[in-house]
Amino acid sequence: MLKFIHLTDTHLVPAKQALWGLDPAWRLRRAVQSINRHHADAEFCVVTGDLTHYGQREAYVALAEELSQLVVPCLHILGNHDHRATYCSIFEDASVDTNGFVQFVRSAGELGRCVFLDTNEPGVHHGVFCEKRAEWLRARLSENTGDKVTLFMHHPPFNVELPSMDQYSLLDPSHFRHAIDGHESRIRHIFFGHVHRPICGAWRGISFSTLRGTNHQVALDFDATTLIRGSHEPPQYGVVFMDLERLIVHMHDYLYRGETFMMDGSKEFLEYS
Ligand SMILES: [Fe+2]
Repeated sequence: MLKFIHLTDTHLVPAKQALWGLDPAWRLRRAVQSINRHHADAEFCVVTGDLTHYGQREAYVALAEELSQLVVPCLHILGNHDHRATYCSIFEDASVDTNGFVQFVRSAGELGRCVFLDTNEPGVHHGVFCEKRAEWLRARLSENTGDKVTLFMHHPPFNVELPSMDQYSLLDPSHFRHAIDGHESRIRHIFFGHVHRPICGAWRGISFSTLRGTNHQVALDFDATTLIRGSHEPPQYGVVFMDLERLIVHMHDYLYRGETFMMDGSKEFLEYS
C-alpha cells in the first residue's frame, strides 16, 4: 500500500505578510503539524503548485522553512503564481528536465511511476503545456510501457465548469492530449491544484481529484465568468492510499477544532494537531 499526502496552493508570501486577510505560512504550518502527527507513515507529500503567491524569493524562503519541518519527504511542482528561476534558486535540488522545466519521475514500485509536470508559463495565469514538455512526457510514457502512471500537475487539462477558473486552465491542451493518446488505460489518476475546490471525477476514462488550498479558496460560483469569487472555506489536505486495485483520496479539513461525538452518544473534543 502506498500512502501519500496531497497539498496544494500554499500561496506563501514573505514572512509576516497577509494574503486575503490570512497568514499562508501559519495555515501551512498547521497542515505540516497535522501531517507529522497523523501521517508520519506517508511515503511523501506533494504540493501541486502555486507554492507562492507573487513568486518572490522571500516567499520561497518562507516556504522552504515551513516545509523543512515535515517528517516525510516533500515534492513540489509549479503553478501559475510561481516563478521558476526563483524557485530553483531556493530549492537547489529541484528536478528539472533538459529544457529547464520542473518535471520529474518518482518510482512507486509495483504501482508504477508518479510523473510530475510543469504547466507554469511566465507572466500569465492560464496553464501552458508546450510541445517540449509534451515531448518529455511522451518519452516517459514510452519507457516501461507495462507500468501504470499517476500524473501530477497544477492546471487541469480540461474545464471543470467553473467559468471564472476555466478561463485559466490549460490554454491549449492539445499537446498534453496528444502526449497521452493511447496511454489512457495506463494512467491511474490525475492529481491537480489550481481550482482551490474539492472536485473529483473522470476525464477520458481517467479519474482525477483536486482539493482546497491551504490558504484562501474559490467559492462555488457557476455564474462568475471573469472575476474569481474567493472564499474563506476551510483549508484541506488529501490523504491518498493506493494499491494495485484501489486509489482512495480522503479530503481532510485540518483546521477543524470542535466537538466530535461517538455513535454511542458520548462526546469529546477532537484535537487534530
Ligand atoms: Fe492557486
